[in-house]
Amino acid sequence: MAGGGFAASSGGTEFEAKITPIVIISCILAATGGLMFGYDVGISGGVTSMPDFLKKFFPTVYERTTAPRLKSNYCKYDNQGLQLFTSSLYLAGLTATFFASYTTRRLGRRLTMLIAGFFFVAGVVLNAAAQDLAMLIIGRILLGCGVGFANQAVPLFLSEIAPTRIRGGLNILFQLNVTIGILFANLVNYGTSKIDGWGWRLSLGLAGIPAGLLTLGALLVTDTPNSLIERGHLDEGKVVLKRIRGTENVEPEFLELVEASRIAKQVKHPFKNLLTRRNRPQLIIAVALQIFQQFTGINAIMFYAPVLFDTLGFGGDASLYSAVITGAVNVVSTVVSIYSVDKLGRRMLLLEAGFQMFLSQVVIAIILGIKVSDHSDDLHHGYAIFVVIMVCTFVSAFAWSWGPLGWLIPSETFPLETRSAGQSVTVCVNLLFTFVIAQAFLSMLCHFKYGIFLFFSSWVLVMSVFVFFLVPETKNVPIEEMTERVWKKHWLWKRFMDDDNVDEEFGKDGMKNGIAKGYNPNSQL
Ligand code: BGC
Repeated sequence: MAGGGFAASSGGTEFEAKITPIVIISCILAATGGLMFGYDVGISGGVTSMPDFLKKFFPTVYERTTAPRLKSNYCKYDNQGLQLFTSSLYLAGLTATFFASYTTRRLGRRLTMLIAGFFFVAGVVLNAAAQDLAMLIIGRILLGCGVGFANQAVPLFLSEIAPTRIRGGLNILFQLNVTIGILFANLVNYGTSKIDGWGWRLSLGLAGIPAGLLTLGALLVTDTPNSLIERGHLDEGKVVLKRIRGTENVEPEFLELVEASRIAKQVKHPFKNLLTRRNRPQLIIAVALQIFQQFTGINAIMFYAPVLFDTLGFGGDASLYSAVITGAVNVVSTVVSIYSVDKLGRRMLLLEAGFQMFLSQVVIAIILGIKVSDHSDDLHHGYAIFVVIMVCTFVSAFAWSWGPLGWLIPSETFPLETRSAGQSVTVCVNLLFTFVIAQAFLSMLCHFKYGIFLFFSSWVLVMSVFVFFLVPETKNVPIEEMTERVWKKHWLWKRFMDDDNVDEEFGKDGMKNGIAKGYNPNSQL
């Protein structure tokens, strides 16, 4: 697997880095954090459409599903408690991210992943053994804490350990695992729905597999050089850097990391620092990307695909089956992104996908608007297949763009001193809006009916315009050189990067010292 050496030429810095097996293996192990997130995303839709589960925990919804004609088709799953089962995880996750920011900085990326693993294992045990709604929801909350810690540490770990030229591809391993987790969950649901009485327990319990994998992975990997150096383990940081880059010649990169960490140490309040003017572009983009990612409407499909297809009159089996198809499309299209993100670039993928998602959603809305009436159960077979195909083109576009890039771009654009805090805001906003969609979608479907897809398509339009004007290209730029090579060159964001724009926390002297030592502070800030 070892590739040739590499020198990043166009920005001044030349780092030699081979694609070493240890980098690939570490990234694969760490990325299993995504598996667990994906499994949790994917499992709830199928479980909440299982009669035995509904009978035990949500008897009123169960009665409604067996007497669908009493209520509009679009409304039969509209129940706040049921939505809370799905959404409580995200609420817990977003709270946990603030603790995770602290642990990622102070204890490192690796230990934070381990903490996530323990939360996951505890959550799985409670969920699989649930006797009442309380146990079920507490289990989901523990899983949510796991998601908060894992989604904080894993993308940072991957972006830091990867050589620049394949950073995008390696980072997307996280998202690939998310999609594999969702698919695995859909397959499990398909199988367990045939088991009478305790199928749902098996669905929730099998989350133990990804939980165990992450825990094991966190025990085996080494921490990133960035984090080791940031925590004062300079020698160990250098040894690890040599090992992962596959060369003795790591001095230039090592020095850049030491400088980045020196600046990082001067920042006493990372969250306050995040709000300073020179961090504004990264912050705005990170927050906007998360809100937009969720307002593509992807999780309406990922959480509720079986419920949605059932609403459209597919019947229980066909609904789960269709969810498996969309899950598979999600995985395959993510692989496309791994190959193209460092070649075509981030912007190209986002813009193309915006077009594709917009068209798919409008077509779905039109077919449903014309063909699904409130009280009849049948969407003509031909139309039903066409809807599934459109859902697939929508999912594939998301999977090579907003899915992975929503995580990649924030993890690579913040400077080291605000990277943990920035990532924690990223995860928090993501989970907040995931929560909003999870909690509101079934009610929105009930009220907007097919118009829900027009609602999401309008958002897709807005986000594409945002990308066109405001998201800069970051492919092939070393992670600690974003300011100089990206932000200072952007038509709008460069205004936030002026040299006078020094944070009170550094003091001007701090900056001058840096310059006196031949260090250009702008490459870090
Ligand atoms: C999103 C999740 C979504 C998943 C679908 C992720 O990037 O953050 O909310 O369920 O992609 O593949």
